[in-house]
Amino acid sequence: MRMPKQSLWTRRAVLRLGWAGIIASAVLTVQPLMRYLSSKEDRLKSPLVIYNSPLAENSGWQSAAAARVWVKRDALGVMAMVATCTHLGCEVNYHADKKEWICPCHASVYDEEGRPVSGPAPRALARVAVDLKPNGSLLINTSKQVGMDTRA
Ligand code: FES
Repeated sequence: MRMPKQSLWTRRAVLRLGWAGIIASAVLTVQPLMRYLSSKEDRLKSPLVIYNSPLAENSGWQSAAAARVWVKRDALGVMAMVATCTHLGCEVNYHADKKEWICPCHASVYDEEGRPVSGPAPRALARVAVDLKPNGSLLINTSKQVGMDTRA
Protein backbone atom coordinates (compact mmCIF):
# COMPACT_ATOMS: atom_id res chain seq x y z
CA MET A 1 0.00 0.00 0.00
CA ARG A 2 1.25 3.41 -0.91
CA MET A 3 1.44 6.09 1.80
CA PRO A 4 0.16 9.60 1.04
CA LYS A 5 2.98 12.01 0.37
CA GLN A 6 3.60 14.32 3.35
CA SER A 7 3.84 17.99 2.59
CA LEU A 8 6.91 19.93 3.69
CA TRP A 9 4.63 22.86 4.48
CA THR A 10 3.15 22.11 7.83
CA ARG A 11 0.52 24.35 9.27
CA ARG A 12 3.06 25.68 11.78
CA ALA A 13 5.55 26.57 9.03
CA VAL A 14 2.89 28.49 7.09
CA LEU A 15 1.91 30.44 10.21
CA ARG A 16 5.55 31.28 10.95
CA LEU A 17 6.03 32.52 7.42
CA GLY A 18 2.87 34.64 7.73
CA TRP A 19 4.05 36.22 10.98
CA ALA A 20 7.48 36.92 9.52
CA GLY A 21 5.81 38.71 6.61
CA ILE A 22 3.64 40.81 8.93
CA ILE A 23 6.63 41.81 11.06
CA ALA A 24 8.75 42.66 8.00
CA SER A 25 5.92 44.81 6.58
CA ALA A 26 5.54 46.63 9.90
CA VAL A 27 9.27 47.38 10.10
CA LEU A 28 9.38 48.60 6.50
CA THR A 29 6.39 50.88 7.13
CA VAL A 30 7.26 52.23 10.56
CA GLN A 31 10.94 52.94 9.95
CA PRO A 32 10.47 55.56 7.18
CA LEU A 33 7.56 57.08 9.10
CA MET A 34 9.69 57.50 12.23
CA ARG A 35 12.51 58.98 10.14
CA TYR A 36 10.07 61.48 8.61
CA LEU A 37 8.53 62.46 11.95
CA SER A 38 11.91 62.95 13.62
CA SER A 39 13.31 64.96 10.70
CA LYS A 40 14.96 68.21 11.72
CA GLU A 41 14.69 69.60 8.20
CA ASP A 42 12.17 72.35 8.99
CA ARG A 43 13.63 73.27 12.37
CA LEU A 44 15.79 76.31 12.79
CA LYS A 45 19.49 75.63 13.34
CA SER A 46 19.65 78.76 15.46
CA PRO A 47 16.92 80.64 17.29
CA LEU A 48 18.24 83.88 15.76
CA VAL A 49 16.72 85.27 12.56
CA ILE A 50 18.02 88.34 10.73
CA TYR A 51 15.64 90.54 8.75
CA ASN A 52 17.36 92.99 6.41
CA SER A 53 14.58 94.42 4.26
CA PRO A 54 13.24 97.91 4.82
CA LEU A 55 10.22 97.87 7.12
CA ALA A 56 7.92 100.83 6.57
CA GLU A 57 5.60 101.97 9.33
CA ASN A 58 2.10 100.45 9.10
CA SER A 59 3.01 98.28 6.10
CA GLY A 60 1.50 95.24 7.78
CA TRP A 61 3.12 91.93 8.64
CA GLN A 62 6.12 90.95 6.51
CA SER A 63 7.51 87.41 6.33
CA ALA A 64 11.09 86.88 7.42
CA ALA A 65 11.49 83.95 5.01
CA ALA A 66 11.95 80.33 6.07
CA ALA A 67 11.42 80.73 9.77
CA ARG A 68 7.70 81.25 10.35
CA VAL A 69 8.73 84.64 11.72
CA TRP A 70 6.82 87.74 10.72
CA VAL A 71 7.72 91.33 11.52
CA LYS A 72 5.80 94.58 11.54
CA ARG A 73 6.41 98.21 12.34
CA ASP A 74 3.79 100.49 13.84
CA ALA A 75 3.95 103.96 15.37
CA LEU A 76 5.44 102.50 18.58
CA GLY A 77 8.20 100.41 17.00
CA VAL A 78 9.00 97.00 15.57
CA MET A 79 7.56 93.65 16.69
CA ALA A 80 7.98 90.03 15.66
CA MET A 81 5.57 87.13 15.79
CA VAL A 82 5.96 83.39 15.13
CA ALA A 83 3.26 81.95 12.88
CA THR A 84 3.00 78.62 14.69
CA CYS A 85 -0.49 77.67 15.79
CA THR A 86 -0.85 77.39 19.55
CA HIS A 87 -3.17 74.40 19.13
CA LEU A 88 -0.93 71.69 17.66
CA GLY A 89 1.84 73.61 15.97
CA CYS A 90 0.85 73.93 12.32
CA GLU A 91 2.06 76.97 10.42
CA VAL A 92 -0.68 79.58 10.24
CA ASN A 93 -1.21 81.63 7.10
CA TYR A 94 -1.59 85.39 7.04
CA HIS A 95 -4.53 86.73 5.04
CA ALA A 96 -3.76 90.40 4.56
CA ASP A 97 -7.10 91.03 2.85
CA LYS A 98 -9.04 89.85 5.91
CA LYS A 99 -6.38 91.00 8.37
CA GLU A 100 -6.36 87.63 10.09
CA TRP A 101 -4.28 84.49 10.53
CA ILE A 102 -5.86 81.14 9.68
CA CYS A 103 -4.57 77.71 10.60
CA PRO A 104 -4.99 75.15 7.79
CA CYS A 105 -5.05 72.19 10.20
CA HIS A 106 -8.13 72.74 12.39
CA ALA A 107 -9.29 76.17 11.26
CA SER A 108 -8.27 78.31 14.21
CA VAL A 109 -8.55 81.97 13.35
CA TYR A 110 -6.42 84.70 14.91
CA ASP A 111 -6.95 88.43 14.57
CA GLU A 112 -4.41 90.81 13.04
CA GLU A 113 -2.40 90.89 16.27
CA GLY A 114 -2.41 87.11 16.67
CA ARG A 115 -5.10 86.82 19.34
CA PRO A 116 -7.32 83.74 18.96
CA VAL A 117 -10.79 84.55 17.62
CA SER A 118 -12.25 81.10 16.90
CA GLY A 119 -11.26 77.46 16.75
CA PRO A 120 -9.32 75.30 19.19
CA ALA A 121 -6.25 77.55 19.58
CA PRO A 122 -5.82 78.21 23.32
CA ARG A 123 -3.45 81.20 23.18
CA ALA A 124 -2.27 84.06 21.01
CA LEU A 125 0.54 83.55 18.50
CA ALA A 126 3.92 83.96 20.19
CA ARG A 127 5.60 87.34 20.14
CA VAL A 128 9.37 87.14 20.24
CA ALA A 129 12.20 89.54 21.05
CA VAL A 130 13.49 91.88 18.36
CA ASP A 131 16.66 93.93 18.44
CA LEU A 132 16.81 96.89 16.05
CA LYS A 133 20.41 97.31 14.87
CA PRO A 134 21.92 100.73 14.01
CA ASN A 135 21.99 99.79 10.30
CA GLY A 136 18.22 99.19 10.40
CA SER A 137 18.34 95.39 10.28
CA LEU A 138 16.45 93.31 12.82
CA LEU A 139 17.84 90.52 14.97
CA ILE A 140 14.95 88.33 16.09
CA ASN A 141 15.37 85.84 18.91
CA THR A 142 12.71 83.18 18.42
CA SER A 143 13.59 81.49 21.72
CA LYS A 144 12.71 84.56 23.79
CA GLN A 145 8.99 85.26 24.10
CA VAL A 146 7.82 88.74 24.97
CA GLY A 147 4.49 90.42 25.68
CA MET A 148 2.20 91.74 22.95
CA ASP A 149 3.08 95.34 23.78
CA THR A 150 6.84 94.86 23.45
CA ARG A 151 8.50 96.83 20.64
CA ALA A 152 12.07 97.47 19.55
S1 FES B 1 -3.00 73.11 14.77
FE1 FES B 1 -3.94 74.99 14.33
S2 FES B 1 -5.97 74.72 14.83
FE2 FES B 1 -5.07 72.83 15.27
